[in-house]
Amino acid sequence: MKIKEQWSLPNLKEAARRTRSAVERVDHYAIPANTFDLGVGKTYHISTYGCQANQRDSETIAGILETIGFKPAEDLEHVDVIILNTCAIRQNAEEKVLGEIGNFKRLYRSNKDLVIGVCGCMSQEDSFVKTILEKYPQVRLLFGTHNIQDLPSMLYDAMVKHEKVIKIYSKEGEVYENLPVKRFEHHKAWVNIMYGCDKFCTYCIVPYTRGKQRSRYMSEILKEVRQLKEEGYKEITLLGQNVNAYGKDLEEPIDFATLLEEVAKIGIPRIRFMTSHPWDFTNEMVDVIAKYDNIMPFIHLPVQSGDDEILKRMGRRYSAESYMRLYKKIVDTIPNVAISTDIIVGFPNESDEAFENTLELVRQCQFDNAFTFIYSPRPGTPAAKMEDEIDEETKRQRLYRLNEVWNGYALEKNKAYIGKTVKVLVDGSSKRKEDVYSGYTETNKLVNFSGTNIEPGDLVDVYITDAKTFSLDGKAV
Ligand code: 5AD
Ligand code: SF4
Repeated sequence: MKIKEQWSLPNLKEAARRTRSAVERVDHYAIPANTFDLGVGKTYHISTYGCQANQRDSETIAGILETIGFKPAEDLEHVDVIILNTCAIRQNAEEKVLGEIGNFKRLYRSNKDLVIGVCGCMSQEDSFVKTILEKYPQVRLLFGTHNIQDLPSMLYDAMVKHEKVIKIYSKEGEVYENLPVKRFEHHKAWVNIMYGCDKFCTYCIVPYTRGKQRSRYMSEILKEVRQLKEEGYKEITLLGQNVNAYGKDLEEPIDFATLLEEVAKIGIPRIRFMTSHPWDFTNEMVDVIAKYDNIMPFIHLPVQSGDDEILKRMGRRYSAESYMRLYKKIVDTIPNVAISTDIIVGFPNESDEAFENTLELVRQCQFDNAFTFIYSPRPGTPAAKMEDEIDEETKRQRLYRLNEVWNGYALEKNKAYIGKTVKVLVDGSSKRKEDVYSGYTETNKLVNFSGTNIEPGDLVDVYITDAKTFSLDGKAV
């Protein structure tokens, strides 16, 4: 593999470094003049993998592309630019991306001008970039999570100068305000409140791929939320890898409870936030959520494990008991709250007893929903170096048992909705039946319901007639 001088390649070791240097903020975004009409008459397609941060980044990528003239592709056979926005959280997310890049080879063979670009968390990994350079010549553009704003000039080099472009910074750069955005949904919007993560849970690649924690100024966030309200958005979700740590890195630190309260006062009908780390979830936050009707009574509170020894080795900074104390405080303070969680099974050398402790925590908490995963070693993280003698079959069985247990509670929780009337924010109608609509309750339960003359974005009262593990059925009243 020949490395070209003008390329910036990633380096996970460098990405692990944290400096105290102030974050530069750029509030004016300028598109280079030679790229103003680069995309006129051309089309693009974006495939997005992974979390909400990636979905929001894809909205920025689409916004930038449309600003320079590109239109969304209706047909992939004639597309000019394909961007894959990737996720590195687990090995299987990576495998899916490589599969899709492989599929696009055919398009590249018939159109050598096609630009296939890869960005997102995987592109921050040295090993992935090496694989792409060695085995996937059809990829002509690679850029990192800190390089999105340079997309016009990168595309210029790829499309006009026919160069292979690689621009991946390992150290996070500026916080950009006012980047173009094309929101993919019309009544729900993502609002970044911070970037990066400094928690360094030992299994997690995110602090390396997304850099140090950088909070946006509260004034900028409030400005964005006010504008979304004026544009008629019904729901916003405040996004951060760990929203509870919001503002701790600002020159004049403020906390998430203060931000949440100020956002609530703007009066947008529904406010959500994710993700919360139990370690810095404060009483003030619980009180603010309980105080405002437009802050939804739904909290995603990843526990990861119910065993203290494993939690310690994960670097999570709380015990099973303190998690349950927080859980109880939330349930006792916020009326009708729903709580979901993330759980990893098969962390290195997780004993049977440790796994049983996780099941016990699930029995105590009876979550409304859970996202459960088999631990996947991420090269470069501390956990990847830990000894692990647990075989894959045991891990799969644990995942199965865990799912059985939490599914049972989720169904029970859902059944409690039967006979009640709930407010649903409508997403759209079912693909199969036009008079069947779907949307979410305040507690984030998916509801499929019948009704007439209903539009996406409507807030509708729905009478619940039936409950399943993952959804409710009902009819509009
Ligand atoms: N293996 C398995 N699951 C992981 N997660 C994060 N890193 C890993 C990993 N290496 C899970 C955690 C996190 C969620 C987003 O993904 O549960 O909360
Ligand atoms: Fe990963 Fe932990 Fe940061 Fe979440 S809080 S992104 S799990 S390091």
